[in-house]
Amino acid sequence: MLSVSNLSMRYGAKVLFEEVSTAFTPGKRYGLTGPNGAGKSTLMKVLSGELEPQKGTVVRPRKLGVLSQDQFAFDAYSVIDTVIMGNKRLWAAMQERDAIYEKSEITDADGMKLGELEGTVGEEDGYTAESDAAILLQGLDIADELHSRKSAAGAGAVRASAGVTAR
Ligand SMILES: Nc1ncnc2c1ncn2[C@@H]1O[C@H](COP(=O)(O)OP(=O)(O)O)[C@@H](O)[C@H]1O
Ligand SMILES: [Mg+2]
Repeated sequence: MLSVSNLSMRYGAKVLFEEVSTAFTPGKRYGLTGPNGAGKSTLMKVLSGELEPQKGTVVRPRKLGVLSQDQFAFDAYSVIDTVIMGNKRLWAAMQERDAIYEKSEITDADGMKLGELEGTVGEEDGYTAESDAAILLQGLDIADELHSRKSAAGAGAVRASAGVTAR
């Protein structure tokens, strides 16, 4: 559940929100509309935690992903990796781990680090991340054969959906 209570935000004389309370129910999809300058981006930043509310509180789920408007940022990655990347802690641990495994010689310190990284991967459900991501993509009607393709090669809709999922 993602919710805000008594949120107030203003910039100078411009009041964006005054005592706003609302909740976003899991499983539902929401659209945020409004004219330029209404405060959409500000609300998104408050929801994601990028910006502290001036007044009020935000309650976020333990895991929260955010896709920025730059959907080309994932072009070089497969659709499935784009989803997995949404978990930043997991992705960072996997990258660091794989870089160590690629070394021709593994030192004792590397071995220690590997143990630590595998621990993080386990904690973040990394060993089922690919199958979890595949189930998630199937739920968005993204065909299995597209999962391993580079996002750039996929249709825009696929790319956007994968990104939304990841974030
Ligand atoms: N950091 C800031 N300092 C001052 N004014 C800001 C700041 N961020 C946004 N604003 C102002 O708040 C209003 C809402 O901005 P924004 O949330 O970006 O609106 P939207 O995304 O709906 O177009 C605008 O008038 C903008 O100029
Ligand atoms: Mg905006």
